[in-house]
Amino acid sequence: MSENIDTLLKESRVYQPTAQTKAAAHIQDYESAYKKSIADPEGFWATVAKELEWFSPWTKVLEWNYPWAKWFVGATCNIAYNCLDRHVKTWRKNKVAIIWVSEQDQERVITYGELYRQVNRCANALKKLGITKGDRVTIYLPKVPEQIVAMLACARIGAIHSVVYSGFSAPALANRIQDAEAKLVITADVGFDRGKVLNLKTVVDQAVANSPTVERVVVLRRQTPGVALAAPKELDWHDWLKNEKAVCEAEPLDAEHPLYILYTSGTTGKPKGVVHVHGGYMVGTYITTKYVFDLKEDDVYFCVADPGWVTGHSYIVYGPLLNGATILTAEGKPDYPTPGRWWDLIERYGVSIFYTTPTAIRLLMRYGEDWPKKYDLSSLRVLGSVGEPINPEAWEWFHRATGGDKPIMDTWWQTETGSIMITPLPTVPLKPGSATRPFLGIEADVVDSAGNSLPANAGGFAVIKKPWPAMMRTIYKDPERYKTYWNTIPNCYTAGDICHKDEDGYMWFMGRADDVIKVAGNRLGTAEVESALVSHHAVAEAAVIGKPHKLVGESIKAFIILKQGEVESPALIQSIKDQVMTELGKIAVPSEIDIVPSLPKTRSGKIMRRVLKAKELGQDLGDISTIED
Ligand code: PRX
Repeated sequence: MSENIDTLLKESRVYQPTAQTKAAAHIQDYESAYKKSIADPEGFWATVAKELEWFSPWTKVLEWNYPWAKWFVGATCNIAYNCLDRHVKTWRKNKVAIIWVSEQDQERVITYGELYRQVNRCANALKKLGITKGDRVTIYLPKVPEQIVAMLACARIGAIHSVVYSGFSAPALANRIQDAEAKLVITADVGFDRGKVLNLKTVVDQAVANSPTVERVVVLRRQTPGVALAAPKELDWHDWLKNEKAVCEAEPLDAEHPLYILYTSGTTGKPKGVVHVHGGYMVGTYITTKYVFDLKEDDVYFCVADPGWVTGHSYIVYGPLLNGATILTAEGKPDYPTPGRWWDLIERYGVSIFYTTPTAIRLLMRYGEDWPKKYDLSSLRVLGSVGEPINPEAWEWFHRATGGDKPIMDTWWQTETGSIMITPLPTVPLKPGSATRPFLGIEADVVDSAGNSLPANAGGFAVIKKPWPAMMRTIYKDPERYKTYWNTIPNCYTAGDICHKDEDGYMWFMGRADDVIKVAGNRLGTAEVESALVSHHAVAEAAVIGKPHKLVGESIKAFIILKQGEVESPALIQSIKDQVMTELGKIAVPSEIDIVPSLPKTRSGKIMRRVLKAKELGQDLGDISTIED
């Protein structure tokens, strides 16, 4: 039996860039820019790095001691300096850095100059608590500007931040605090979620009770009267910063000095502390933000992620600020108080770049196209998607709902990769459902388990063939686990995703290797089957798993959420099966379909198929600390 993955999905639509998109683009000709970058990747990355400021230069661009990489060897820099001082020295000092909107529509507008002062006050306050270079600080804040301030303040003094998404429970938070051995936790009294008040301080109290390394807890009090604080261990954020000076020199750090730890579990297993560093990460996030979104000085950039995830780290905080961009960030969910929430924000703030997720798009699709139609979305210029394969149906809907002429950048990357790896640029012809081609300087391929390149349309493992600047440097306290990424398939970084390349070299991601379903000798990726399911007019969301089957190895079971107003019936189930039959063929038709009200997802919106599977088979659910519901 072939170990390769069958590819069934045939998507033939191609969208060419409009004249308007082409006219102004940073990269006019992807093909030649890519070829040039790949002929000399170190030269390419060094040229990019020179657009940023370094306190002292590197002696070597890359030191590659398989699988350990050091980039910009010997250089000193500071990412926070590049996010702030570099702009404050210019006219950008009074440019808007952050527009923040709370769930209750409270608005704050912060210029680069003001952000610089707040970060410096916070950096000085950190020092006063005895936080020094290399110390770990856990940031457990809702999506408020202070979250960004705290991250940059840590970076400024060389402390290592570990941002934990504020939806995590006390045991999950405690686990992450303990693994990082954090000395300080920065939190808030409350967060808000669809109008519900989340008592974050209570969660922190429980987590800290079992975390002996924590010396202090700083609390941002959003409600009055303020929550009680137990001095001297607990401090009020505003009191903490009040008397601090607005100047704090950025610490010159080795390019390889750790910037942050971010715990990720993806959809399986125990959380891993992914470590990123100042130098390479700064170069990778800077240039991908600039080229992928074709970022310009007058853009308003809206990324819906939370800084609790890597997308927030790389593409709300670091990438955009390195570019001196104006960022819109909004607390809350896409459908609260109405499904028009994000469209309304786009209209209100004249958003030109909008970066979101397939899960959110599918959620908004459920409410119908009338919602986006109510708003003026003409300010939009470039769209983005990340986190999962975007099925062509959702892609088409997003494209239509936003006017039908804006390019969608389907960006494939991971917490571990730090920056976007496989992605279109706005001038690249688009195929709905494909993340298209590798970013400049990135060599990617689809291979079999021995590392052999596969021919067009054969499914296999997505790999990266050379190190890149923003790659993770290790897994915190677990170097062996780091090595597995580079040891699974010889001589390359294995992402754990399956994928195929078409005749044009376009990459189509098909799901996680762990989720592959083996039906009668065929190996199917979950994404294709799910994509075929959601192409049915009645289906809003779908997840598929393989169930052991005596005759065919595994049979496919699908879990489906219906669109609003659709009613379950045997005829409907049959017509959904017929749809998969037409789209992919008999082999991919689920033998069972369950209609469900919701699907188990990680808090960042990824479907946890292993949980569905364990539940279906009556097995232990494993670590479900990252589950949303
Ligand atoms: O399976 C891929 C999927 O998300 C994984 C990485 O998840 P995480 O580390 O949480 O980072 C999410 C934000 C970058 C990948 O291994 N994934 C992410 N983006 C895409 C995707 N799958 C298909 N297409 C994408 N654009």
